[in-house]
Amino acid sequence: MDTPFTDKIESADVAKMPAEYQVLLKRVLAIQADCEIGGPHLYVRSILPDAPTKVDRLIVARTAAEEADHYRKVARLAGEVGEDVSALLSRPNRERYVNAFRGTITSWEDFAVFGFLIDRVGRYQLEEFIGCSYAPLERLLPDVINEELGHIDYGHTKTAEFAARGGRDKERIQGVIDAWYPKALDMFGNTGSRRSERYRHWGLKRRTNAQAREEYMREVDPLIRAMGLTVPDPTVGREFV
Ligand SMILES: [Fe+2]
Ligand SMILES: [Fe+2]
Repeated sequence: MDTPFTDKIESADVAKMPAEYQVLLKRVLAIQADCEIGGPHLYVRSILPDAPTKVDRLIVARTAAEEADHYRKVARLAGEVGEDVSALLSRPNRERYVNAFRGTITSWEDFAVFGFLIDRVGRYQLEEFIGCSYAPLERLLPDVINEELGHIDYGHTKTAEFAARGGRDKERIQGVIDAWYPKALDMFGNTGSRRSERYRHWGLKRRTNAQAREEYMREVDPLIRAMGLTVPDPTVGREFV
């Protein structure tokens, strides 16, 4: 890779930056905002009323509230650089930028695995911005990442509970892992993506798509095995490899 850009940019500096920087910054903020608000649109309607206990219901509501707050924080940054992302609030799920957000979640098993696998990808995406050239984005990371850790941990705990029951419950949760795992890997994008190189050039991301995906698999695969489940074949059901 060429020499990456290492300056720290504030919102007032953005208009003075080359067009490519502005386009990539607006793009990454719009995608992040879409993913943040995409989560609650997947599960609140059917999962919230059917939570197995009051504590679970409270946690679903808190998770959705935190995602809405993440959206608000990212939307403010986008607005400061002239990118209006308010239409994302009412965008139909099928038009979401990332495939994992395009359907609906109607089972508690799916909600658990979504936290375990997909919120974890969300954390990886946020971690791309640690040390990034856009200072306002870096400043919002600690609180947002901390809340994502809570979503991931809850999803992990619930997924492990289903697996520990054995029998049909374990088979069912394995099927749900099999369905979400390729979507999680796809979220990292194509290996060798030129845009990913340009994000790195401008200091907006730290890792290549392939590096981040490999780190993710190194983290999550042992967790799946520790539940007595099987890690899905990473080449099956993939769209972006
Ligand atoms: Fe979030
Ligand atoms: Fe989350």
